Amino acid sequence: MAGRGLVHIVTYGCQMNEHDSENITGRLVAAGFEITDSPDAADVIIVNTCIVRQSAEERAVGQLNSLFKHKRDRGALIGCAGCLSSAYGRKLLKKIPHLDFVLTPQDIGDVAEIIDDARKKRVVSEYRERAFIPDNRFNLKKNAYRYWVSIMKGCNNYCSYCIVPFTRGREVSRPAGEILDEIKRLAAGGAREFVLLGQNVNSYGRGLAEPLDFVGLLRAIDAIGGDFRVKYMTSHPRDFSLELVEFIRESDKICRHFHLPLQSGSDCILTAMNRQYTLEHYAGIVDYIHAKVPGACITTDIIVGFPGETDDDFERTLSAVERFRFNGLYSFYYSDRPGTAAEKMEGKIPLAIRKERLRRLIAAQDLITAGIHAGMVGLETRVLVERWSGRPGQVFGHDSENRVLVFDGDESMFGKFITVRIKEAGKWAFKAEKI
Ligand code: 5AD
Ligand code: SF4
Repeated sequence: MAGRGLVHIVTYGCQMNEHDSENITGRLVAAGFEITDSPDAADVIIVNTCIVRQSAEERAVGQLNSLFKHKRDRGALIGCAGCLSSAYGRKLLKKIPHLDFVLTPQDIGDVAEIIDDARKKRVVSEYRERAFIPDNRFNLKKNAYRYWVSIMKGCNNYCSYCIVPFTRGREVSRPAGEILDEIKRLAAGGAREFVLLGQNVNSYGRGLAEPLDFVGLLRAIDAIGGDFRVKYMTSHPRDFSLELVEFIRESDKICRHFHLPLQSGSDCILTAMNRQYTLEHYAGIVDYIHAKVPGACITTDIIVGFPGETDDDFERTLSAVERFRFNGLYSFYYSDRPGTAAEKMEGKIPLAIRKERLRRLIAAQDLITAGIHAGMVGLETRVLVERWSGRPGQVFGHDSENRVLVFDGDESMFGKFITVRIKEAGKWAFKAEKI
């Protein structure tokens, strides 16, 4: 065993989970552990789990179960981190008999001690209402140009389908001074893109001593000198301010990509989901973005088959998708999540219908995406080159609108902004050439 232990980490779920895993990794290395890519070599295996949908939960539990052989054959410690841990806590020890420790996102700061303790007895980090917000102090990324920056944790919205308020706790904003110092330090070290993370970034600043809202925070970040750009996720249409659009129009640092989850095109379903906006409110935002920020890309999330969703409600979602012509759509069929309000609702939709609605939604969006993407051929855009694409001689990066681009290039382009022309449109990525 190397040092205090040799740890392998598997990560599922959203950007918060990826950022948490970076944090766990960095803290463990600082505490004298080593990290390995190989589960077979590890004496500690941590699965950082997501349970946002039932399928994600099944995958997380399946993965943890499959690690039994590492315990049986070598006595490796098996740990569960992430949202499964906060949702089930101690109950997981019963559900997964070979599990050695349970670590909630709030307790990441204690990860090294928890592993040490787990060598003696099974440990459950207590799910406390701590305001733990991961930062980049421990980040070990090498040659990285893109960083997650948490600006808040938790969520107070209680959308009726969503488990996040139960796994990530109440909403707490991170003090602006800390965020700005982190960005200044990373930018000075060569970072070229920051993705600000929060479940509802538009409500940033609530409860902070200094009065600063999300636009105020973006203004302060924009005022930091340097050649970098800023993205953020996720926005909530209820709290989304038009002032934000005005500011993005002026700024050359804040990116022109808006991820604005619609969830449903039916006002009845939006009410049942407790989203607190109407389709027309949403439409007002989309129109404003297109009018003020030409060329902006808008992407969304949609759930089909929410309890009580009629054929008519679903048709409204389809027509909303036709109307808004999103650049990208992440679509899901509804699944019950324990403890949520929707779990207790009547009018559950049979799986076959949920799947069929999802299929129709995806097919409608595929046509829209193909049309939009074809219209982008010939467009010039500025790409941050992040890495090789996986094909020799070809590099990979994103532009301000969050499009994925690949083009012929070399290592000297890594970490640089390169202007390219789009040559060919695919479903997820564009082929381009350097101008
Ligand atoms: N069932 C299906 N999809 C869900 N999402 C969140 N909770 C559920 C659920 N219970 C989707 C939402 C959210 C995205 C991250 O996952 O669309 O925006
Ligand atoms: Fe999954 Fe939500 Fe937890 Fe992220 S916050 S890991 S999406 S359950």
